[in-house]
Amino acid sequence: MRFIETWTSATLQAVRDLTPTIREFLLRPDHFTGAPYPIGSHIDVGVTIDGQPQTRSYSMVGEVDPQGYRIAVRRAPDSRGGSRYMWSLAPGARLNITQPASLVQLDWTRRQFCLIAGGVGITPIVGAAQALARRDARVVLHYAVRTRSDAAYLDMLEGLLGERLIVHAGDEGRRLDLERVFGGLPQDTMTLFCGPMRMLDAARRAWEASGRAMTDLRYETFGSSGLLPTEAFRVRLRGEGTEFVIPHDRSMLEVLNDAGHEVMSDCRRGECGVCALDVVGVDGEIDHRDVFFSEHQKRESRKICACVSRARGTITVDTLHRADVL
Ligand code: FES
Repeated sequence: MRFIETWTSATLQAVRDLTPTIREFLLRPDHFTGAPYPIGSHIDVGVTIDGQPQTRSYSMVGEVDPQGYRIAVRRAPDSRGGSRYMWSLAPGARLNITQPASLVQLDWTRRQFCLIAGGVGITPIVGAAQALARRDARVVLHYAVRTRSDAAYLDMLEGLLGERLIVHAGDEGRRLDLERVFGGLPQDTMTLFCGPMRMLDAARRAWEASGRAMTDLRYETFGSSGLLPTEAFRVRLRGEGTEFVIPHDRSMLEVLNDAGHEVMSDCRRGECGVCALDVVGVDGEIDHRDVFFSEHQKRESRKICACVSRARGTITVDTLHRADVL
C-alpha cells in the first residue's frame, strides 16, 4: 500500500468563492509543520452525509502555503453529498483530514511540459504550474472552461505563466482541440492532465494517436465524474444470493465494507486499483470512473474499482472475501 493514512484534526481557517460554483477552503492542521508535499497531492477529508461519516478526497491547490492546506470544491448537483457538506461549513469548523499524499510522478529531467486542466481539474494543476515556473521549465497550460467566469485561479495563473496560459472558453468559440495541441508538442514532452472522465478519454485517445508513449501522459480525474448520471444501482455477490443497493451518495466500497465484506482499498480515488473486484455479470451498464484500468479493460468490464466506479442496473461481483457468518 502506498498510502498510510494518518488522520489529524484541522480547523477551517477561511473560505473564498473563486467562481459561482467553486469555493476554496483553507485548512490548518492542529500541528501544522508547513512541510512541502509532492505535486499532485491530495488529502482525505472526513465529511458527514445524512448523518453518516464518510470520506472525500480533494486535491491540494498550489505548493505548500505557510497558512495551511488549500483545497477547492465544486458545488456539484450530481455529487454524492461531499460538496454539499463542504459548502455548508463556516470558518472555525473542525474537520478530520489526512496528510497530503500523491500518486503522480513527473519526470523533472524533461525539457518540455504540457499541463491540461478541465474545469475544477485546475486544482492539482496549480501546484504543478508553480513548481515548473519556479524551475524555469518550458511549460504551457491549456485550461478548458465553459466561460471565463467558470475559471478559478485565472488571475494568479496569468501572472505566473503569462502567454504560456491558454484559456479555452467554450462560449468564446475556443474549444480545446486536444489532437491539435498534442500534435504540436515536441516529442519528449511530459503532459499532466486533470479533468472530467469524458475529457480524459479524449485526451488518452489523442495522445495515443499522436504516437507518444502513454507513460508520458500523467493524469487525474475526479471520482464524481462518470459517463452516466450518479444514481442508485444494485450489486449482487456471486454465490451468496446477497444483493445490496448502492445509494447515489455512497460508493460500492463503503456499502460492502459496512456489510463486513472487507474489500481492500488504498487511494479511494480510482488510481491504484487495490479495490478492484471481479465482475461476473452485468445486467445494465458499468460506469468506470477510475483512471487505473485502460480503455480496453474498461470495455471488457471484467473488473470494477469499487471505490469510485458505479453502474446502471445490477452487477454481480466476486468479493473473494466473505462476510463473517454470525
Ligand atoms: S482504492 Fe485505489 S482505485 Fe480504489
